[in-house]
Amino acid sequence: MASESFFAPPRTVVLVGMMGAGKTSIGRRLAARLGVPFVDADAEIEQAAGSSIADIFERHGEEAFRDGERRVIARLLDGPVHVMATGGGAFLDEGTRELIRSRAISVWLRASLDTLAARLEKSRTPRPLLDKEGDLRTALARLIDERYPVYQKAQITVETGDGPHDPVVDSVYDALQVFLEEENPRNSARQ
Ligand code: S3P
Repeated sequence: MASESFFAPPRTVVLVGMMGAGKTSIGRRLAARLGVPFVDADAEIEQAAGSSIADIFERHGEEAFRDGERRVIARLLDGPVHVMATGGGAFLDEGTRELIRSRAISVWLRASLDTLAARLEKSRTPRPLLDKEGDLRTALARLIDERYPVYQKAQITVETGDGPHDPVVDSVYDALQVFLEEENPRNSARQ
C-alpha cells in the first residue's frame, strides 16, 4: 500500500526499461503524484533534432541517435527535478547510464516477455529496432537477453505486468521512499 504522505524527490527520477514497459504512462502518473514535471526524453530528442526518432535512425543510424540521446539527457538532468521517461536503449549506453546513475535516481520498470509482446502488438508507435525484425517475440527475447543484465544496474527495480498502471505507480512511489530513507536515514521521507 502506498503511503499517503507526500515527499519531494531530491533528484530527478529516471525510468528505464524496455519498449512497452510503460515508462511514459507510469512516468506521467508518478510525476503528478510527486508534484514535479514529467519529461519524455524521446520527445525532447525529436524536438531538438526537428525530426522523428524513426527518421534519425534511418538517416543517421543508431550511433548518432545514441550520441544525441546522451546530450539531451545530460541537458535535462541539468534542469529542475522532474520525472523522466527514457527510450529503451538509453541506459544501455555507458555514458548515459553513468550520467543517470550519478545525477538522478534510476528506476527499472521490469516486464515479462508476454507483457511486452502484448503491449507492443497493440502499439502504433514506430520502433526502428523492432519494425525491421520479422517476429516480434523473437526480437524481444533477444533484446531481453542483452539488456536485462544492464537494466539491473538501476538503483531501484519495480515489476510491471498486464494490469492497471496505478498499482505500479504506488510501487515506484513506495520504493523511492525506501531508497531515499536508506540513502539518508536522518532525512526520513516518512512522516
Ligand atoms: C529504443 C526505444 C524507443 C526509442 C528508440 C530506441 C530502444 O523508446 O528510444 O526507438 O533502443 O529500445 P521507447 O522505449 O519509449 O519505445
